[in-house]
Amino acid sequence: MNNLLLTTLSGLNWRDLAENDEAFFVYDLEQVAANVTGLRSILSGLHSDVRLFFSLKSNPHLPLVRALFDLVDGLDISSHAELEYCRSLGLPGHRISMSGPGKTDASLRCAVDMGVSVVHIDSLEEFASALKAGCQRLSVRMHQDDLFSPKLGVNRGDQLSMVSRWDGRLRGLHAYLGRETFSWDRLRKTCDHMAAWMEHSPASYMEDARYFIGPGLGVDFSHLEPAPYQLDRPIDFEVGRAMVANAGLYAAQVLSVKNTGRGLRQVIVNGGLQHLGSPFVSLNSPQGTSGVMAFRNGQPLEAQGIHEFVVAGSLCLGHDILHPRVAVSSRLRRGDWLVFPKAGAYGVTAGVPYFIGQDLPREFVLQNGKLIETTHKNFKLYQCDAGEKR
Ligand SMILES: Cc1ncc(COP(=O)(O)O)c(C=O)c1O
Repeated sequence: MNNLLLTTLSGLNWRDLAENDEAFFVYDLEQVAANVTGLRSILSGLHSDVRLFFSLKSNPHLPLVRALFDLVDGLDISSHAELEYCRSLGLPGHRISMSGPGKTDASLRCAVDMGVSVVHIDSLEEFASALKAGCQRLSVRMHQDDLFSPKLGVNRGDQLSMVSRWDGRLRGLHAYLGRETFSWDRLRKTCDHMAAWMEHSPASYMEDARYFIGPGLGVDFSHLEPAPYQLDRPIDFEVGRAMVANAGLYAAQVLSVKNTGRGLRQVIVNGGLQHLGSPFVSLNSPQGTSGVMAFRNGQPLEAQGIHEFVVAGSLCLGHDILHPRVAVSSRLRRGDWLVFPKAGAYGVTAGVPYFIGQDLPREFVLQNGKLIETTHKNFKLYQCDAGEKR
């Protein structure tokens, strides 16, 4: 956890944050900015034209988007709702790219209307719909034959059949490298593969065609050395988790601590899957306990007598598990809080917020050292106006 977040949690702010039972997120806007700087310095050596896009699905919380939009080259969106959201914010289409395997006709028409810079095509049928909608700025997502993305992208035969029936020219090729599976070697192999596709039918690509990459960087990219080679073409990176995950923390109140079968100590918190689409297990270090901290009355619970707990959410679902092995003080009890660092990505909007109507989290940002509540009230499905109460 970074120092600013720690200071905020331990200080007076705790009273505002934990004034009732609701879980909350806090996002540190300075950390987000530092992440963009760090990513640019690692990636910029690849080519004189490297652009950085924020993958909006990883966290569309408005203050983050506003802060990021000034720092990155653009946003990558994956749904019609995200596109309309950008439109409502007045964000210009030429700084938006569109990916995702589920594009509706309405979303394609909206992309044309907004002048989206590139639509990454994911299937032959989608290609036909995109042309019908009037999309001309297209790239094709290359199918990667691996475990991580079996349903994504277009195979070689389908790509050839697209270009043979279209007299337009592609803006480039796209690939998503898979969640947390980035390596320089993997990037180079993917770009070589794309280069081979482009060389096979050069007339089908713009002269300045780009590589479009969802790099699948992990939550923590600080161990990465700057790019060890250069590419022959400009490249765009769409980054989600590496841009925002370590800038956010999630805190949830403990409702029960109990012994269950097989010697497990089980914690139930007032939160869970409805707040977080991706639970805290990192694919890179599944056994890791992610630095979770326990708090009582705004103070960290001292670390002696550590015990391992299964931390589960409050939904009546077996798979509502935030982490299978959290090591915190064995004195943990109802009313304490668990604070999870690196929780800034794939939170509220990736969760299942309406299932049985459990409490939803609040959201805050830290800006210039000040804590500001920015909770989106529309998440409160079960709320009714005072006049409607019986
Ligand atoms: C096409 C595409 N780009 C970018 C991303 C962002 O990935 P990450 O959050 O791992 O950076 C994803 C995630 O699923 C994706 O599908």
